Amino acid sequence: MKKIAVLTSGGDAPGMNACIRAIVRTANHKNIKIYGIQYGYSGLIKNNFMLFTPSDVGNTIHIGGTILKTARSEKFRTKEGRLKALKNLKNNNIDALIVLGGDGSLTGANVFYKEHNFPVIGIPCTIDNDIYGTDYSIGFSSARETVIDAIDKIRDTAASHERIFIIEVMGRESGHLAVESGIAAGAEMILIPENNNSLNEVVKKITHINKEKKSIIIIYAEGCKFGSLKKLSKSIQNKIKGSNVRTSVLGHIQRGGTAAPSDRILGSVLGNQSIDYILNGETNKMVGIENKKTILISIEKAISKKKPIDKNLYDISEIISNY
Ligand code: F6P
Repeated sequence: MKKIAVLTSGGDAPGMNACIRAIVRTANHKNIKIYGIQYGYSGLIKNNFMLFTPSDVGNTIHIGGTILKTARSEKFRTKEGRLKALKNLKNNNIDALIVLGGDGSLTGANVFYKEHNFPVIGIPCTIDNDIYGTDYSIGFSSARETVIDAIDKIRDTAASHERIFIIEVMGRESGHLAVESGIAAGAEMILIPENNNSLNEVVKKITHINKEKKSIIIIYAEGCKFGSLKKLSKSIQNKIKGSNVRTSVLGHIQRGGTAAPSDRILGSVLGNQSIDYILNGETNKMVGIENKKTILISIEKAISKKKPIDKNLYDISEIISNY
């Protein structure tokens, strides 16, 4: 094992840079060269390789986004694209590939491994925290802080004007970001796709809370299927006469900003361990964290199972937040 390549793919996540830094420096410690591939799988297909020295990753541990840039590659979904990627890895004498990304990126790594038997290791990076087999994904804690900060600010207006605010947070098809930021920000209601609530049920519940309390914060996970934000706010306004409803879509501010300390630590640990696992001959595995210990899980399993929501946390929020 002399040369390892690393790429970041899909949505950027704060802490990716801490992870890249750990990979480069751990590899250097073991006399292995690290090549960074720019623009994810697209860069792999376009042969965008560059040698990384330990000093190249200096002063990056705190920076959000990814110094390697990222992309969602359509070409890598094709056999032809993956064959080109393999040729580039071989021509650059790369022995193994580390993929930092979410569900889609790990799915790409799995297909690539199965097709070409090329050694790959995945590291979960997504603000959605929806990857099975790891308690946390890199980026989640930072996004949670950003969301909570935004909700705290909106709450000032909600309380002053006695308004109902519906705040949309990211998370794709999952409600992990919604639940954890919702409970920490004391949201009166958290709507997540996992609960499959009907619009009627939700409006009824809000009407009930509104009898006691005029300012209400509702966290709305973007994957909720019961209707759009607009539809929900209209229904509330129709049902609750004189109600003052506002909506706010937090959008991409959730993905950016300085990496939280826990993401820097997680990135450093998973990056460091990924090199050790590769040297032990592990392949097509994801390095994750469970009960503060690093674990290995097959990428196939990580992408095929749905990570359940922390129901206990959700239930606690239901009990304590409706006042
Ligand atoms: O997976 C991370 C994520 O931010 C999701 O929460 C969101 O649905 C999606 O990416 C947005 O993707 P894009 O930045 O490509 O619009």
